[in-house]
Amino acid sequence: MPSLSQFLHRFYHQYIGGRSNQKNSNAPEKSFMGHYVEWRAKRLAAIVEHYSPRFFAGKTMVEIGCGHGDIGAFFAALGAQVTCSDARASHMRVVRRRHPLVTAQQADMDKPWPFPPSDVVIHLGVLYHLTNIWENLRAACNGCRHLILETEVSDSDDPALVLKIAETGFDQAYGGTGSRPSGTAVEAVLKECGMKFQRITDDRCNSGMHRYDWPVKNTGTWQHGLRRFWFAEKI
Ligand SMILES: C[S@@+](CC[C@H](N)C(=O)[O-])C[C@H]1O[C@@H](n2cnc3c(N)ncnc32)[C@H](O)[C@@H]1O
Repeated sequence: MPSLSQFLHRFYHQYIGGRSNQKNSNAPEKSFMGHYVEWRAKRLAAIVEHYSPRFFAGKTMVEIGCGHGDIGAFFAALGAQVTCSDARASHMRVVRRRHPLVTAQQADMDKPWPFPPSDVVIHLGVLYHLTNIWENLRAACNGCRHLILETEVSDSDDPALVLKIAETGFDQAYGGTGSRPSGTAVEAVLKECGMKFQRITDDRCNSGMHRYDWPVKNTGTWQHGLRRFWFAEKI
């Protein structure tokens, strides 16, 4: 049985990070490479450290805003039944081609939740690209027992603050407008939905510009990379 670090190393270097089947480095296939590789590996290591690798075997999991599905595929490799979803048809085509172990389902998270209940929802890097963030977050909480939630937030502890931001790009808001709530606002909705949660407060997932161990200074602004990460469970 390989150790967790050996498993992660093998998975990334044989299966995702080390892929070199693209002749053109600007091809869409490369889009979730670059800074994503280390950032994804650190977040996956934190998730597996929190739950243990065995936790995922046999679990039903839904991943939203999956990009090319590399996160969901990791849990499928640990034995979970994973549905990977993203609003962008082009991303879903890559998921279908690259990850036969997962079920691919195109879904816009600014629309009603389309999935049956699952054991786990993987909600990484997508809440802040939505307009209807609270509808989506409530639906995600209602649709699972365990919610793994990670998002960019604003620098504020105002539970009412949500900054609206125009966005463009292959990994940005599908609807063109993103939202940066305060972390306090996110936690208020988790509590309202009957979730208990733990937040990552240290630097284990810090990667490039992405930071999780910053103190709120209440500037009421947002910057790329100011992020929060919670492990939530229905009480
Ligand atoms: C920053 S990337 C995060 C990718 C991956 N989840 C991760 O954390 O590494 C955001 C992803 O959310 C997707 N996305 C943006 N708006 C969406 C929406 N309304 N519904 C579903 N997915 C959306 C994008 O297409 C992109 O794949």
